[in-house]
Amino acid sequence: MDAIILLGAPGAGKGTIADLVKEKSGYLHVSTGDMLRAAVKAQTAVGLKAKSFMEAGELVPDEVIIGIVRERMAQGGQDEKYMFDGFPRTLEQARLLDAVMEEAGSRVSRVFLLEASKELLVSRISGRRICRNCGAVYHVQNIPPKVEGVCDSCGGELYQRKDDSEETVLNRLEVYKKQTAALIDYYDAKSILLRLDASQPKEVTQARILEVLSRS
Ligand code: AP5
Repeated sequence: MDAIILLGAPGAGKGTIADLVKEKSGYLHVSTGDMLRAAVKAQTAVGLKAKSFMEAGELVPDEVIIGIVRERMAQGGQDEKYMFDGFPRTLEQARLLDAVMEEAGSRVSRVFLLEASKELLVSRISGRRICRNCGAVYHVQNIPPKVEGVCDSCGGELYQRKDDSEETVLNRLEVYKKQTAALIDYYDAKSILLRLDASQPKEVTQARILEVLSRS
């Protein structure tokens, strides 16, 4: 078993990069944000617990997150390679992941930190549009669809996430600073953190990550 992590503030490009990297690396993309949004849509018990936290831009309680990640990892085999996006987000979640990896005789091998200025993060989030049908992610200026409001891949309708409103975005950035940024030091101390400039074109970041993974 192997695990790598894409760490970074909301809007840094974790989901976009994960989609590109998974195609060429064999890593399984695990996004706790996507899992929670699916649970909210399906109105499961997890979704009902998570909804109000997500809409306010707050973190969903650790016990809920730990439950869904454990459940997801229990479905994978011994040789599974996980690429986490949006997880872990607190020290407690990071320690839990370490414990799960240790139980499997492995460890988190790499953490890629996507760094960007606050201005860039806000402009990326406010321009983000997502396909209601297949989940493809666009940006109205940076990565526009060929036809406005319509997904290139499946023709689905593009929508804006509820928690991408300006007020909620500013809270999400604060929450990242207060609760998640501590993970930078946590992983740096283990000498597995690699800092990447997230303002680069996505293909540049993808190539850098693939190059690092091919050497390990
Ligand atoms: P989550 O879904 O994880 O959201 P997030 O971390 O806030 O990250 P985003 O999805 O906003 O951004 P991203 O970095 O993936 O950027 P993207 O690739 O889309 O979490 C949502 C909520 O769920 C949380 O607030 C919390 O409530 C809850 N939650 C989730 N996980 C949790 C956990 N572990 N613990 C507790 N609560 C949890 O890119 C952004 C935009 O920029 C897009 O439009 C894209 O097209 C564009 N773009 C990306 N890269 C580039 C590039 N290189 N050049 C130009 N444009 C780019």
